[in-house]
Amino acid sequence: MKVGKVLDGLLVFNMILDKRFKKLIEEINALKKKKKAIILVHNYQRPEIYEVADFIGDSLELCRKAAETDAEIILFCGVSFMAESAAILNPKKKVLIPYLDAGCAMADMVDAKSLRLFKKKYPDAKVVCYVNSSAEVKAESDICCTSSNAVMVVKSLKEKDVIFLPDKNLADYVQRRVPEKKIIPWQGFCPVHHSLTKEYILDVKKSYPKAKILAHPECRPEVLDLADHVSSTSGMIGCARNSKANEFFVLTECGMVERLNRELPDKKFHGLCNMCFDMKKNTLPAILKCLEEENPVVKVDKKVSLKAKKAFDRMFMIV
Ligand code: 13P
Ligand code: SF4
Repeated sequence: MKVGKVLDGLLVFNMILDKRFKKLIEEINALKKKKKAIILVHNYQRPEIYEVADFIGDSLELCRKAAETDAEIILFCGVSFMAESAAILNPKKKVLIPYLDAGCAMADMVDAKSLRLFKKKYPDAKVVCYVNSSAEVKAESDICCTSSNAVMVVKSLKEKDVIFLPDKNLADYVQRRVPEKKIIPWQGFCPVHHSLTKEYILDVKKSYPKAKILAHPECRPEVLDLADHVSSTSGMIGCARNSKANEFFVLTECGMVERLNRELPDKKFHGLCNMCFDMKKNTLPAILKCLEEENPVVKVDKKVSLKAKKAFDRMFMIV
């Protein structure tokens, strides 16, 4: 088949898709209004989902929005620990997520029972729990943190010994910035970020010497050493906006490239990235169905929720 014909075919396909998206976006936005719902969307979501968002952001920003909203329904487009956090922070609201099984591989690397055993080995240590964790694990922790405030949270503690979980890469990133503490890392990691290697980045730097490297702190330490800027997903937007550079390589989940392109269309972003398939489970048809049926609802055991909320509250007292 001729290349021209294939391109024509793609163009027609995209037009059909655009029309279908437009209709779904209108339906979702109308239903959202009718049901007094808000849709909170993580930066990694598919770009068409941005069009139904009341707010798009990183984990910390989304936690804040979930905690302060007076909407009756929060529909969360992200992974399950994020929706669970919304339910913990605003327990009177109905929290929905299109797929309850949209998990986080890193969050699954720690459970409450193993954490309880681990804590026994370090009775003097405080437990700092990255938000990428289950409600049960948060309930066993002293304080929560996100990628944008982990350093500040650890610095704020009086104790020298700190168990940091589940991400060993974020733990290392914090340890380097807070040398006065002794960080005891859990050995979890995010497969999406951990699989990006130093060799790969060195190659890119050689071929694009003027481009800046933006990296998420879930990447390996030797990769972060090669980055020009390390931050949460939303932190990357601010950095690229304020930078004199016009070209960037983005070391995080691929959706961030779409987000940066949308926010800063005059700059050029390339992904050095992998896809988080759980983040990508959400689609416009699934969001519409979820909102129509008000199902599935995110449920957190009341006792667990109250304990986990304390870990969040301590975080919010600091940042
Ligand atoms: P942010 O809080 O930086 O958005 O990160 C969340 C996450 O899951 C990174 O993989
Ligand atoms: Fe979890 Fe990694 Fe996906 Fe973020 S990118 S949600 S840390 S698996």
